[in-house]
Amino acid sequence: METVEHAQVEIARLSEELRRHQHHYYVEAQPLVSDTQYDRMMDRLLYLEGLYPELKLSDSPSQRVGSDLGTGFPEVRHTVPVLSLDKAYTGDGVLQWIERCRQRGEQRLSFVVEEKIDGVSLVLYYEKGLLARAVTRGNGFVGNDVTPNAKTIKSIPLRLSRPLDIAVRGEVFLPKEDFNTLNGTMEVPYANPRNLAAGTIRRLKSSETAMVPLKMFAYEASFTNPTEAVHSHVEILRLLKDLGFLVNPSLAVFADADGDGTYGDIPDYLGKLEQQRSTLAYEIDGLVIKVNELGVRDFLGYTGHHPRWALAYKFDAPEAQTEVLDIGVQVGRTGRITPVARVKTVKVGNSMVSNVTLHNQDYINLLELAIGDTVAISKRGDVIPAVERVVEKNEEGNTTWQLPAECPSCKTTLVRNGAHTFCPNGACPDQVVGRISFFVGRQQMDLDGFGPETVSFLVDKGLVHDIPDIYTVDYDALVGEPGFGEKKAGALAQAVEKSKEQPYRLVLVALGIPDFGKKAVDLLVNAGIRSMKQLLEMVDSGDAETLVAIKGFGKKTVDSLFAELSDAKVRERIARLILLGLQFSEAATDAEEMLPQIFRNQVWCVTGSFERFAPRSLALKEIEARGGRTTSSVTSKTSHLLAGSGAGSKLQQAQSFGTTIVDEQQFIRMLEGGESDDSR
Ligand code: IVH
Repeated sequence: METVEHAQVEIARLSEELRRHQHHYYVEAQPLVSDTQYDRMMDRLLYLEGLYPELKLSDSPSQRVGSDLGTGFPEVRHTVPVLSLDKAYTGDGVLQWIERCRQRGEQRLSFVVEEKIDGVSLVLYYEKGLLARAVTRGNGFVGNDVTPNAKTIKSIPLRLSRPLDIAVRGEVFLPKEDFNTLNGTMEVPYANPRNLAAGTIRRLKSSETAMVPLKMFAYEASFTNPTEAVHSHVEILRLLKDLGFLVNPSLAVFADADGDGTYGDIPDYLGKLEQQRSTLAYEIDGLVIKVNELGVRDFLGYTGHHPRWALAYKFDAPEAQTEVLDIGVQVGRTGRITPVARVKTVKVGNSMVSNVTLHNQDYINLLELAIGDTVAISKRGDVIPAVERVVEKNEEGNTTWQLPAECPSCKTTLVRNGAHTFCPNGACPDQVVGRISFFVGRQQMDLDGFGPETVSFLVDKGLVHDIPDIYTVDYDALVGEPGFGEKKAGALAQAVEKSKEQPYRLVLVALGIPDFGKKAVDLLVNAGIRSMKQLLEMVDSGDAETLVAIKGFGKKTVDSLFAELSDAKVRERIARLILLGLQFSEAATDAEEMLPQIFRNQVWCVTGSFERFAPRSLALKEIEARGGRTTSSVTSKTSHLLAGSGAGSKLQQAQSFGTTIVDEQQFIRMLEGGESDDSR
């Protein structure tokens, strides 16, 4: 039991301590403790102040309610306060909370356990089933209206399956894999997926938000006019799913089967989920336990800070502190320079970390990182480990680390482009090794035996200067060199021969054109551009329009493709690979070949809605199967517009370009008769 005297002393100490940490966090941007440690102190203070309100200091740090309000977005008052959750850190803490609910609730309760998604809280207001506003949590009472940005998130329905007035709360997040891929392309990368999601939802241009594959799990709902008969949380989740929301399927319900108030298997379940944490596709920072019965929720009500009917079971942040021993520099296959911190090996979460990427100079400047500093490192599941902050400066007087002026591999003067620094020498040995290693990699050409050591050996020996050289090396002549037995030489020769059969799509990815990975290549080939010859003709005639019109292609992708394919060295590389016999075109599939290619050389755009082709992609497939190319917008190159009912601006554009306009019936006749539109 706390005595008043003890509480008073502890409140004073915690207030003082927290004030100091707030200053370091908010003013100096140099937190001294982890978020978990800070939260625990704050929780303890809130608890004591709740117990003895009269002891609360007038300048208590607990009054600084966290706020994510930002400038640049309209402020909107929430219709229901958006509260956060009370927390527990142990299974026992959860059981004690359950017991309190049970005693207060005065009836047999069931509890739902959900994942606590580590993302950004968002409230979606629907009016008559239409998304009217998307508002951030803000300070809980007022948030920022980020509707245009939220509308770009595919898992947020713009229209519900029923015309309800409803406020839906959920968590916007970025899957770990998307974070890892995307963060590498960011000017100033983010330490974790949550920060990237938070930054993305606050972009001033929604087109930038749209480029990040954010998702949202919906987990709470309240009705303006309670017309729906829902009595439990589980029913709310089912309703949300029916309305069109993405609902996290990871869910468990615990009922008090024998009425004795024991839910003994909950702690086991919490432990099991914590174990599985790193295997999930997204980050969670705990679990949420909620009273299932909505009537009891109303009865339990709220404290000033949080609902009494829900509790967060927080996991320890997978964070550890260690020392930066050195900072090295890597030269990537595109010449990009990446600083990497070598740290005293430390266990973070489930893995040992000794190297941590620092991305670029701007990132280092933000951290003000120097060799010898003690840093906090996070590693959440399979997210790449990141330096979160400097915890203690080194005592040797080292100042913020700077990239060298010269390439460590070839000594060429480095150049800066945006936030990144590059070695401009395409023949730089490290770049050559990187380019070839990518080409031979598992996901690309998959050449067995070409590990990093073999590639470096071939480059260092001066036998290989560029990708095509791996096809002309006399591997037998290498027998006797360290690590080269007859078996190895034979395997390498066989691997290069075999790789000549790899399909065009893989060859195109393997060339390593910036921003041109598997997804972009699939879009390109599926749009009917099936050979390098076709592609190079477009580049040479400056026809970027056709490519930009391919659905899913941004201008950035096309610019980067054009720049790369206009480079003389790249052209030479491709020409040599063509002569060596690699695949540089893809035949249409058998099914497609059986169909008369009546749309060959035509460019089609499809708009409006159709009876027979719903979804519209069915019409696109029919066109592509008959040799036509499809685009998502009408340009001067579009030869045909298939216009369904409700066609709007595209129809007008097509009319202004003099594009041939085809309706559904005509289109069906074309497909059935196998005739093109020459008869029109
Ligand atoms: S319920 C009124 N359920 O965790 C209670 N929250 O402080 C509303 N969160 O601010 C919260 N996953 O942003 C709930 N399954 C989940 C959640 C969840 C993540 C976030 C939410 C909240 C924070 C807790």
